[in-house]
This record gives sequence, C-alpha cells and structure tokens, in this order.
Amino acid sequence: MVLEKAKSLLQPSARSNVPPFMAMDVMAAAARLEAQGRRIVHMEVGQPAAGAPATAIAAVRAALGNGPHGYTETLGIASLRRRIARAYSEWHGLDIDPERIVVTTGSSAGFMLAFLAVCEPGDRVAVALPGYPPYRHILAALGCEPVGIETTALMRWSMTSETLLAQHRVRPLKALVVGSPANPTGTMMAAPALTALVQCAEDAGIAVISDEIYHGLDYAFAAESAARLSGDAIIINSFSKYFCMTGWRIGWMVAPPSLVRAVERLQQNLAISVPTLSQIAAEAAFDGRAELEKVKAGYEENRRILLDGLPRVGLSSFLPVDGAFYLYADISRFSSDSFDFATRMLEEAGVAATPGVDFDPLHGRKFLRLCYAGSREDMHDAVERIGNWLKR
Ligand SMILES: Cc1ncc(COP(=O)(O)O)c(C=O)c1O
Repeated sequence: MVLEKAKSLLQPSARSNVPPFMAMDVMAAAARLEAQGRRIVHMEVGQPAAGAPATAIAAVRAALGNGPHGYTETLGIASLRRRIARAYSEWHGLDIDPERIVVTTGSSAGFMLAFLAVCEPGDRVAVALPGYPPYRHILAALGCEPVGIETTALMRWSMTSETLLAQHRVRPLKALVVGSPANPTGTMMAAPALTALVQCAEDAGIAVISDEIYHGLDYAFAAESAARLSGDAIIINSFSKYFCMTGWRIGWMVAPPSLVRAVERLQQNLAISVPTLSQIAAEAAFDGRAELEKVKAGYEENRRILLDGLPRVGLSSFLPVDGAFYLYADISRFSSDSFDFATRMLEEAGVAATPGVDFDPLHGRKFLRLCYAGSREDMHDAVERIGNWLKR
C-alpha cells in the first residue's frame, strides 16, 4: 500500500511529457554503433567540431590559479556584460546599455527566462515550422501554447506578417520567436523582411523574441539584428555556435529595460548565477576573432562541398543555404518517412543526420537536416557514402 503510494508519487507530471529532441537520440544511436567499432560521420547535432578559441582557454587557465570562483552577480560579471554590449556597436553600430545585458546558461536558459518573463500560462506563442524543437517543448512544459506557423521552401522557410496575423486572428498571440539564420533550414530573412515582421508584430501587441544564436555564421548576406529594429525586442544569443563553446553553457540576452529586473529575479531563483569560469572564458573569446573567422571559413568550404556534391549523388532539393551550418534536404524522392530514412542511412551508410519530423511534425517526414559543422574530410566522406547508399 505504502509502496503503491510512493510509486504514484513518482509518476512524471503531464507537463514533463514533452517529445524527445531527436537529434540527441540519433547521436546516442550513432554512439552505440561507434562502440561496436563502426566509423560514423556525424551530421546530426548542430555543434562546431572546433573547440573554444585559444584566448578563452588561456583566460580560464590563468583564472584557475586565482580562486575562489564563487557565484557572480546574477546578471553576469560586469566586464562581460560591457564586452557583450560593445559587440553590438562593433557588429551593428548600436549603442546598447550594458545594464540590458543578461548573461545566461546558454541560450536555452535565455528562452526559459524570456518565456517566463513575458508569458502567462496558456499564452500563445508563434514559432515557425519547421523550427528548433525546444522552442515548442519549453513552451509546452511552461504551460504555454506553441502555435506552429507553417512555412515553405518558397517562403524561404520564414513566417510572414500575413501568416502571423492569420494565427493572431484565430486567438491572440502573446509573443513570437523568430530565428535568422534559422535552424533547421539555414535560411535567413533579409533585413526588409525581418523589419516588416517585427513592425507588424509590435503593432499587433505581439512581443518579439529574436533567436540570434547563428549570427556571425552568415554566408549569403549580413544578418540583421532585431535589436536594431526595436528597443522592445528580446534578443537571445549564445557563445555556443560562432564562438564554438557549446559545452561551456553560456549565452546572453538583450532585454528591454522594463524586463531586466523581472529576468534578474527569475535567474536569481532558477540559477543564482551562470558558471563563473564560463563567463571568464566568454569574455576572452571576443579576442579570438581571427581563429573563429578561420572556423567560419571552414564551414563555407564545407557548404560548397555539399552544394556541389549532394546534387551529383541524387540529393538535389534544398535551397541555397544562407547561414548557420545546416542544410534541409527534401528526401521525398526516396522516402516518405524521414525517421526511417535517417535510421537506415545511419545503420547502412554510417552517416548520422536528423529526420525533419524533429523540426516539423506536419511535413518533416519529407526532409532531413544535415549539419556541416564537421571537418572537410567528413563532408567528402558523407557525399561519397550517401551517394553509394542511394545507388543501392
Ligand atoms: C536555433 C537554436 N537556438 C538555440 C539553441 C540552444 O543553444 P545553446 O543553449 O547551446 O545556446 C540551439 C542549439 O542547437 C539552436 O539551434
């Protein structure tokens, strides 16, 4: 009886019943094959093959001798907040008050803080489909309603003012999440398109949350920041991608002044502060620009290898990819089930990629996301393996 009661107390809550992030499941399956001695080309998880820049590592080495590395101020070390603010003047010619910068545990924590600071339970938040799955899953766990806005290749996978307002008319939206460059498609919104969307949202009373985590990784044209378009937009960014620091778990938010104190109170309670050594590394990472630009040049080279190679082996349907390090390929010529396709491609060709269903429950069956953040050799190897496999 007591045991029965204890068991029922241990049932997961309904809100925790979010779908898995499939890219991580594919990574686990790839690791199992590697443990059996297979060589796998990893194109499933969106993370740079390179590590943090040498400047970041050197700063942490030096800091290790100068403990005690206790908690920092909840909003982040003041010099790091100033350095991030300065980056906006360097990148976008913007004068951002360092008081608006909130250092976060990766952009993942930034999203949680932003949703908690802006939304009440039950609020509707627009996200593009296909899109980064944790937007939807974090919102659901917080009791908000993610509202998928369908996009197509013809729309360059971006939501428009019209598609946003159509959902707003169904029932009012509280906020929208926009990402450019986007995951999984790698496409970007040109400045006029982003400007129109931000203006339209704010005119309709919809808060704008702009995921700028792939800024710095733009190949077709320069990415526009929503911070230039509105002082009310919430900007989320991270050291994970351009700065090659995924495992350091550090990012930042540019919050409108009216939200800074709310975000601070939330972070005080949820995290106290962000890991101190990661903050020290992040500040020094800004001095690693030359090294990071070389890594970016490597992605551009990888992108060219795939844009040339994949069509030759039969995978030809994807947009010219503008930024980030993703390519979203239409595989409907070969399969109507991208999960099955990705599973077979992993087992039979040894190439790990993420099925589109992770990003788009509606049409993702027809798509596969390939991440090209690996080595140049991996890209050539992937093209050859996929080609041989599709020929069979
Ligand atoms: C679009 C997008 N946003 C946010 C994140 C989260 O990154 P992090 O928490 O490492 O900053 C990712 C990670 O892949 C992403 O692709």
